[in-house]
Amino acid sequence: MIRHFLDLDALDAETLRGLLDQALSMKRSRTFPAALRGKTVAMIFEKPSTRTRFSFERAIHDLGGHAIVVNKNDMQLGRGETVADTARVLSRYVDAIVARTLDHHTLVELKNHATVPIINALSDRSHPCQILADVLTVQETFGPLTHPRITWIGDTNNVFFSWLQACLILKLPLTLGCPPALFPDALKKQFDQNPLLTWAEDPLKAAHGAHIVMTDTWVSMGCLDPEAQTRLLTPYQVNETVMKQADPQAIFLHCLPAVRGQEVTDAVMDGPQSRVFDQAENRLHAQRALLLWCLQTPKA
Ligand code: CP
Repeated sequence: MIRHFLDLDALDAETLRGLLDQALSMKRSRTFPAALRGKTVAMIFEKPSTRTRFSFERAIHDLGGHAIVVNKNDMQLGRGETVADTARVLSRYVDAIVARTLDHHTLVELKNHATVPIINALSDRSHPCQILADVLTVQETFGPLTHPRITWIGDTNNVFFSWLQACLILKLPLTLGCPPALFPDALKKQFDQNPLLTWAEDPLKAAHGAHIVMTDTWVSMGCLDPEAQTRLLTPYQVNETVMKQADPQAIFLHCLPAVRGQEVTDAVMDGPQSRVFDQAENRLHAQRALLLWCLQTPKA
């Protein structure tokens, strides 16, 4: 069976924890199996990237593999060749495809027609690679067996969606602080039915007692009305007042890039509770383990 990674629900709790343990073990030992020797990974980007591109390319290199990185517009895909044909052709050349797509359906189409693993490097729906790094950062800070209280403040975007999936898989309590306009009925229903999930309109209430406070940019790539979105989220800035509501040992996470002065202040980004650069580094460590999971043949 091909091990695709379109969303976190490709992994059960045990597999996810095992993957993160392996990531941490490789991070500490700085020794990596040459499991990708002789293997090539294609990386396709429909949107810009700093962390995802560099960390994947480095991780592939560390494991002995070779990366080919291409912007969509440098491929025939950008001139109308179908996603299905692209998937069929690339499967003849490479051993896995990492793709950042505007539309999640493009990843599904790649998966449906490829004969090699497809890895979601961010879509409009989700960002599971980011959350592997985030959970790894949480695990490093609080230990693997604790159940820290997690608060997300701001937009209910693709990164939030993947965090929600992680909390459901790992059975972690999650509080969402956002305006009612960004709390759609389907999400509200899910929150109403699960005691681990809490919503608060007031960001200070959402942050109360949290061990992890997270946010993300207010204006995601592809947002149709950035001004309206910014107006809506202005009361949801993570600043020192918000952080004071959290547990004294709380950490602040942000997947980056941050718009300093909007969703988060400099004081929080650069303050003692911020782990954002450890979190960015953990993209590399988590993705090494993910590549091993996708590309190593499971033992019979
Ligand atoms: N967090 C994240 O995915 O960063 P990039 O957009 O720089 O890859």
